[in-house]
Amino acid sequence: MESLKQKICSEGTVLSEQVLKVDAFLNHQIDPQLMKEIGHEFAERFKGQGITKIVTIEASGIAPAVMAGLELGVPVIFARKYQSLTLTDNLYISKVFSFTKQTESTLAISSKHLNATDHVLLVDDFLANGHAAKALIDLVGQAGASIAGIGVVIEKSFQSGRAALDAEGYRIESLARIQSLAGGKVTFLE
Ligand code: G4P
Ligand code: NA
Ligand code: NA
Repeated sequence: MESLKQKICSEGTVLSEQVLKVDAFLNHQIDPQLMKEIGHEFAERFKGQGITKIVTIEASGIAPAVMAGLELGVPVIFARKYQSLTLTDNLYISKVFSFTKQTESTLAISSKHLNATDHVLLVDDFLANGHAAKALIDLVGQAGASIAGIGVVIEKSFQSGRAALDAEGYRIESLARIQSLAGGKVTFLE
């Protein structure tokens, strides 16, 4: 997606060979017009698939997921993050370890909102090592729901998530694919 790549180049900051900071339009301040275009692009790529729900993770997945949900005309569920969770009744829960933050958290979705009749599009802001995506896949599986695919705003193709999810047969649509952050520079795939 050309407008997204341009935004990454003009407003993104390469923090290290592993981490791209995009607080100016995605992770802190949000560019609504760009999010609208992102939602439209996800909807174009996944329309006609019988999607009934979009599932993402708080916080940064919500903006692109809501815009995609608006375009596809389906509800958006965000898995909630807890440091620990004691009451787990009527919840699907899965643990996820963040390498960026070096913390483990518990993701939860109420069984009220997701069930076996649902066909789900997963959406997230970043795909790095794929741990967040795998936890979402686990939650959707607990509901007995099926997965139409995974929509990612920014994929860091040099990390392991993309290949691992490809190997499991998921359809992944990433709007910007980054081949490398070496030398303080963003190099896109293709
Ligand atoms: P993984 O899920 O793909 O394995 O990645 P990782 O554990 O590294 O991701 C943990 C968090 O860091 C996620 O946000 C993810 O979106 C984010 N992240 C991963 N790589 C980058 C990057 O290069 N730049 C930025 N800005 N974020 C990255 P989160 O903890 O869920 O936080 P939130 O932003 O949704 O609140
Ligand atoms: Na994030
Ligand atoms: Na995220």
